Amino acid sequence: MLNAGSIIKCCEINGIRNDNKYIDHINCMKEEEYDMRHLIDPKDLSVEETGDILALAERIRDNMPAYSEVAKGKKIATLFYEPSTRTRLSFETAMLNLGGTVIGFPSADVSSVNKGETVEDTIRVISCYADIVAMRHPKEGAPMLASLYSRIPVINAGDGGHSHPTQTMIDLMTIKSRKGRLDNLTVGLCGDLKFGRTVHSLVKSLSRYKGNKYIFISPQELKMPDYMIQDVLDNNTDVYKESRQLESVLPELDVLYMTRVQKERFFSEDEYIRLRDCYILNAEKLKKAPKDMPVLHPLPRITEIAADVDKDPRAAYFEQVQNGVYVRMALIMALLVLTDPVTGKKII
Ligand code: CP
Repeated sequence: MLNAGSIIKCCEINGIRNDNKYIDHINCMKEEEYDMRHLIDPKDLSVEETGDILALAERIRDNMPAYSEVAKGKKIATLFYEPSTRTRLSFETAMLNLGGTVIGFPSADVSSVNKGETVEDTIRVISCYADIVAMRHPKEGAPMLASLYSRIPVINAGDGGHSHPTQTMIDLMTIKSRKGRLDNLTVGLCGDLKFGRTVHSLVKSLSRYKGNKYIFISPQELKMPDYMIQDVLDNNTDVYKESRQLESVLPELDVLYMTRVQKERFFSEDEYIRLRDCYILNAEKLKKAPKDMPVLHPLPRITEIAADVDKDPRAAYFEQVQNGVYVRMALIMALLVLTDPVTGKKII
């Protein structure tokens, strides 16, 4: 739920201009708009709500036909200002699977943002057309800003290097199905931990379950940002350690989360080329890992997971893709306050 405190915090983290305009806007919002739920950050959902949505995603996985008309008459708008394959198409698939429909533009270049339209105005317009929106944006905080002006629920489908909460729900569903739990896990996160929004969201979310520990595997240049270490992990070196090597820590892990070094976040191509192949997991290296250690990756992958890992039963990244449809169906139902036809209850 939005409030002045959460806006100020988000503005600070994301470096958005923080004048009183947004606070004044919240104070003027109608009661029903104020109470509307958006998903901008994983912590917008309580641990209990997260569990309820994951349970719904599992019910959908096990009985898809029961949900085929749940969102009949509803529309999702997919506003993607950055490239995407999985997030965009799985949101669209999710809404179609629920009996709803989809609107959106094929790329930001053909939308009126190209003529200078602001995020605030765009979302006011989309609120007249759709019931819910999934927004991806290169600027941290853009979906948060949109949510302040929206009359419909806004889902952050990835904002710059900040957050990707729906990917995190997918990661949680996959970890739970592979390990049977979301607590007391040692999770290795490898690759671009500086700009990787998926790792930021996942650590934020897992830090709410007891006993989880993290090994951050990255080059110095792409290490986990200080605000994550301070604000999320409370500088507690009992729960995290950093490593420059992948192979040496593999035996310690319950879960390995690989990520891509993201070319689009670098100012210097030379720097990107120097760092892009810093970690490459292959079948030979995987011999050092526990037999039940799933390998996750949000995808797309470039070189960081060799193709010979794909046939290893520990490879879980295409399972994540499949879970993406179930999770996004569940999230659409939750934020549109739709009734689960199997339980007869609302989700959150
Ligand atoms: N995992 C993920 O966000 O993939 P896309 O960039 O293809 O949406």
